[in-house]
Amino acid sequence: MTFRLTQISDTHLSDRVPGFRANFDLLAEHLRAARPDLVINTGDISLDGADRAEDLTMARDAHEELGLDWLAVPGNHDIGDDPLPGCRQPANAERLARWRAHLGPDTFVRDVPGWRLIGLDTQITATSLPEAEEQMEMLVEALHGTGGRAVAVFMHKPFCQERMDETDNTYWCIQPGPRHRIVDLILPQRPAFIANGHVHQWRDRGLTEGLRQIWGPSAAFIVGDAWQETVGEKSVGFVEHLLHPDGSFESRMIPLPGLVRHDIGAMPEIYGPQKRLAA
Ligand SMILES: [Fe+2]
Ligand SMILES: [Fe+2]
Repeated sequence: MTFRLTQISDTHLSDRVPGFRANFDLLAEHLRAARPDLVINTGDISLDGADRAEDLTMARDAHEELGLDWLAVPGNHDIGDDPLPGCRQPANAERLARWRAHLGPDTFVRDVPGWRLIGLDTQITATSLPEAEEQMEMLVEALHGTGGRAVAVFMHKPFCQERMDETDNTYWCIQPGPRHRIVDLILPQRPAFIANGHVHQWRDRGLTEGLRQIWGPSAAFIVGDAWQETVGEKSVGFVEHLLHPDGSFESRMIPLPGLVRHDIGAMPEIYGPQKRLAA
């Protein structure tokens, strides 16, 4: 039987932004009726869990109220980000511990008929936290015990924008060092797809290395053209993955009618003014 998996992403939940909550409530109503077999949130579940435990608990409770089986991996707004120069909220032990206290593990391995689903924490990959190495060990083990299942990987940040050999240390992607480590591990297993969030754009594209990388849109907001290049589609919505037991699958973006396409660039009260793109 086909396994119906719904990927939601970048819900950015908090009591302080009713508009994002309203989008989530609409999505939740849809999901309660559609009853997928599993919901996976690919990160930025909270508005500012990196500094506020109450945002994490609010996001967790909102997901519990779905009454569905659900999993999540953390995003930069949940546990902090790569320790690049100027990073205001670097991922660290305290932030990771807060996530684990309120949301549980930051990675997962879940077997469903014909498939192994692996959730990775992209936010710690460029840190020296012991959990970063533990995650790599977990990944090796998960990839070697698939028993012939198809593999799908869920994570917050994409590997790259266009090519795996990009060398920039960018806010939008996993840093080149950890990217190559992870890709070298997963490529021989030929994963069916990699699903991520973070960019707040929908895109479904094969990469040169033969990996299919599916970018889930945010359910909360887009980043307007003055502040972010368009490399996919700037929609709000979610992704439905239909996983067949023989390893074949179909993925599509669903732009749920009624979701408000907020633009974070026009809401400087939330994360401060966005940095304008060079003209
Ligand atoms: Fe986000
Ligand atoms: Fe993010």
